[in-house]
Amino acid sequence: MNPMKEHRTNNEDAKETNGKPGTRRDRPKAKPRMQRGQTIMRDKTIKRIIYGGDYNPNQWPREIWKEDMRIFKDAHINSATVNVFSWAKIQPSEECYRFEELDDIIEMLSRENYDIVLATSTGALPAWMAKRYPEVERTDWDGKHKKYGERHNACPNSPIFQKYSARLAGKLAERYGSNPHVKCWHISNEYGGICYCERCEKAFRVWLREKYGTLENLNKAWNTEFWGHTFYDWDEIVVPNALGEGLWNGGTAFAGISIDYNRFNSDGMLKNYMAERDAIRRFDKDALITTNLMGTYKGLDYFKWAKEMDVVSWDHYPSYNTPWSYSAMCHDLMRGLKDQPFMLMEQTPSQQNWQPYNSLKKPGQMRMQSYQTIAHGADSIQFFQLRRSVGGCEKFHGAVIGHAGTEDTRVFREVQELGGELEQLSDAVLGSRNEAEVGIVFDWDNYWGLEYTSGPTVDLKYVDQIHTYYEYFYKNNIPVDMVPYDADFSRYKMIVAPVLYMVKAGMKEALEAFVQNGGVLITTYMSGIVDQSDNVYLGGYPGPLRKLSGIWVEEIDALAPEQSNGVHFADGSSSSCNLVCERIHLEGAECLGTYETDFYAGEPAVTRNSFGKGTVYYIGTQLAQEGREHLLEMICRDAGVQSLVEVPTGLEVVCRQKDNKKLYFLLNFQKEPIAVPKQFWGYEDLLTGKSITGEAVLKQYGVSIVATDAS
Ligand code: GLA
Ligand code: ZN
Repeated sequence: MNPMKEHRTNNEDAKETNGKPGTRRDRPKAKPRMQRGQTIMRDKTIKRIIYGGDYNPNQWPREIWKEDMRIFKDAHINSATVNVFSWAKIQPSEECYRFEELDDIIEMLSRENYDIVLATSTGALPAWMAKRYPEVERTDWDGKHKKYGERHNACPNSPIFQKYSARLAGKLAERYGSNPHVKCWHISNEYGGICYCERCEKAFRVWLREKYGTLENLNKAWNTEFWGHTFYDWDEIVVPNALGEGLWNGGTAFAGISIDYNRFNSDGMLKNYMAERDAIRRFDKDALITTNLMGTYKGLDYFKWAKEMDVVSWDHYPSYNTPWSYSAMCHDLMRGLKDQPFMLMEQTPSQQNWQPYNSLKKPGQMRMQSYQTIAHGADSIQFFQLRRSVGGCEKFHGAVIGHAGTEDTRVFREVQELGGELEQLSDAVLGSRNEAEVGIVFDWDNYWGLEYTSGPTVDLKYVDQIHTYYEYFYKNNIPVDMVPYDADFSRYKMIVAPVLYMVKAGMKEALEAFVQNGGVLITTYMSGIVDQSDNVYLGGYPGPLRKLSGIWVEEIDALAPEQSNGVHFADGSSSSCNLVCERIHLEGAECLGTYETDFYAGEPAVTRNSFGKGTVYYIGTQLAQEGREHLLEMICRDAGVQSLVEVPTGLEVVCRQKDNKKLYFLLNFQKEPIAVPKQFWGYEDLLTGKSITGEAVLKQYGVSIVATDAS
């Protein structure tokens, strides 16, 4: 079948019924666009930077739809994400499905040549389902079972939810999968949260049996001899919420069971995702399938999820005081999940509503934020939302069209300007990649393990620790890949693994091989402590990393917020330090800096060890920014890690490259104007089409995209 022909047929359909609002609901159900089992190859390649976002025409009368199409065209919007929360509309009762309205929406967008991102709507349950099958709702930490309300509310182990969510996804794909404009499927919405219901409890026991085989193995893994919690029957195992091993502060008495429960919950939701994905694939072999992730969201092991996704997409909502380095890190993490460009599924054109203080984005800020996103690997810019809703808790959330209903607004003009620019940039950007010599390890098991740990300090937060190191590379415009624990380290000159608390099977060997072959490894306090079940490696910290780092950590001191120590470096410089101070013995490593005070004054705080052809740096305390930068500068120099700029600059500089072209994104996040570095003079700025001169200066929120030949 010729896709274009079929597309035309759809248009004709739409024309026929145009101008007859009100009659469509009563029409007999339209025939599915495609027959069961029929496979049609479509060219669903995305050929432009997708620019659009969440669009809910279902919340509006039809006159508004027309107006939307006119206004969006003006803003160069070429995509819409539809059907995100329409389950109750499409399936008003258990027996009945109604697609008329969605048919019309899809037809309208197809006619306008949109790249449609079609959501499956399973992120919020219909009320009838919760009433008839209370099991579809979740049970919370305190053991309360939700009656009905909110969203992201389905129990992942409810057979009813599993059945109806996959069925809906399949029906949507059967109906719309053959439409060549449907370029991407968006399953559910922001998977997250956790359920502790009895069904989950039973499913957890099955998951545990598969993982451990015997109770003996499980008891050993969770060290249940502690407090005499030995299990003699699988049915004795209960979920680790407040009615189980959960502590008053959200912590746990047994990290083993709680980490496993996180893994189980992440796997359970992933299974929900995969069931919908597989249902879609039966009918649509070509479109990309994704779900929108949330950066460093703790609840789900995104590296595991990414393996099942065609493309990673995510929602970026920095608050007024989020450092830009943090945003950059999240983008790099999202790119790192698949080591591929990603989609920016949501950002607000200006204002937030759910943060404590929802400042406006300043003029130019949204544009610059969007370019930062693209610079770090995004191939799309999508907004939540295209039109601001009338009611509900998001009525104050920013949108391309606000409550005034007009395009005569600052926000609209900024969206429009960016849309025009992106249209011109598609060819240069799509297909290009980010390259890095430095990998920073990010690992969800570590995240869970470190933060469940009781002691040595409550202030040790996983993501903050990673960001602390990321920030140095960011400031110095040294590209970084965020990598999983089992990445191919040999691609990098340097691996940074801060607070590598949990060393999982295979990691010791992989790190040793990396360093042996000439790699430089940086690791820190609280590393090499436990195995995958949170049991300590006996024989001295940092356990499996002890030989590699050439040190033994005898004790870990915790410093309260008002306390600090200092580190005196061999080159005469010094830095204050805080949080934790590890007492280190040298076992082959050399000492680079010693503590200045306390009973361990004069003992090593920072060390370097040669191992094979490479080097391991161990940082035993949280150095103040100055000291950290001083040390990392020295390490980067030794490792031969290159910055993208020849001379330091306050601009953020990021590079994507393809074929023999490099695209440099120059971004000014500072208040003061900054001169464009000399190395870019004479090259074309793709945004202006002009050559960069020696006078070029970027004001706050100013952007240049410079194309150079790769060298
Ligand atoms: C999330 C959701 C959207 C919307 C936005 C608001 O990202 O996916 O549906 O609620 O937040 O910021
Ligand atoms: Zn449940």
